[in-house]
Amino acid sequence: MLNFEDDIAPIPAAAGMRAASMGIGAAMQADSNAHTYTIASTSTGRIRVEDKRIINSTADVNQLVPFKYKWAWEKYIAGCANHWMPQEVNMSADIALWKNPNGLTDDERRLVMRNLGFFSTADSLAANNIALGTYRHITNPECRQYLLRQAFEEAIHTHAYQYIVESLGLDEGEVFNMYHEVDSIRDKDEFLLPFIDVLTNPDFKTGTPENDQKLLRSLIVFACIMEGLFFYVGFVQILALGRQNKMTGAAEQYQYILRDESMHLNFGVDVINQIKLENPHLWTPAFREEIRGLFLKGVELEYRYAEDTMPRGVLGLNATMFKEYLRFIANRRCQQIGIDILYQGANNPFPWMAEMIDLKKEKNFFETRVTEYQTGGALSWD
Ligand SMILES: [Fe+2]
Ligand SMILES: [Fe+2]
Repeated sequence: MLNFEDDIAPIPAAAGMRAASMGIGAAMQADSNAHTYTIASTSTGRIRVEDKRIINSTADVNQLVPFKYKWAWEKYIAGCANHWMPQEVNMSADIALWKNPNGLTDDERRLVMRNLGFFSTADSLAANNIALGTYRHITNPECRQYLLRQAFEEAIHTHAYQYIVESLGLDEGEVFNMYHEVDSIRDKDEFLLPFIDVLTNPDFKTGTPENDQKLLRSLIVFACIMEGLFFYVGFVQILALGRQNKMTGAAEQYQYILRDESMHLNFGVDVINQIKLENPHLWTPAFREEIRGLFLKGVELEYRYAEDTMPRGVLGLNATMFKEYLRFIANRRCQQIGIDILYQGANNPFPWMAEMIDLKKEKNFFETRVTEYQTGGALSWD
């Protein structure tokens, strides 16, 4: 748990002196988490690209180039090109609609509230997972560069949900506590938390097959099940509102978030596949079977969330359509990391979602300000 009220613990004098006398490389090697830094190991020679690895690398993590994984650097550049800030989006139409007693149905209001209830804490989980967990265990500087950008994007997403809650004058205590108080939301978070806790545990280190599998398992859960599955009922719901010219400011923000998350997912998939390539001994039949089980559980939890947020049909959507959609998405995620599909014949009932990910095709769709918001570059994946 983060607590910004806590005083910063002073560095014990002995440790500080030890670091000073040993030099940075030696001091970091002596540190209990030394394997994540490995500075000293290359302090005497130039970095060799062949020594760079996603995990358990002996190459200096402080030297960005020469690049080994250009895809990571390219995603960092594309992420920066897609920069946006929540307060740039005009929320006045949303505020007027929300305040109008006849503006939205009760079912639409429930959907919006529970949607924000999930997302308002989910992106804090995501940020903490990256900053306190994943970042330490990924021993490649170009991947770390992307993770730093991704961590900031998660902060922007949390900001966006807070901005929507504040703009609409919603009960923030109700929204932010759904994490604890609404079963369908709490169940998703309780599924995720053990996989995050593994990586944020200060005593956890990679370097054994068992622990490397733990890291790989957590990376798959985070990218493919959290970012790649648990976000999608919520994205469809708010974007469906926007398509009906309702909550257009919120929908515009979700569209930017979807674009960011699509890249987070694709980066995660590239990292997972590269770890598999470099460590084929981790990808055992038993491990793959376990991952399939986690996907099945993820689909079940997300479907329960769909039922809870849409007890009746709303906006032309209903929970049954999401059963098909979640099966389609889970199949796609399995394929992306080389696992056999789980549900034969599942189709996509929302083909318009593919267009939503690529903002260029949706210019001025919501008739707010600019939906083609980019500072340069373009998306070309997924
Ligand atoms: Fe996010
Ligand atoms: Fe994300």
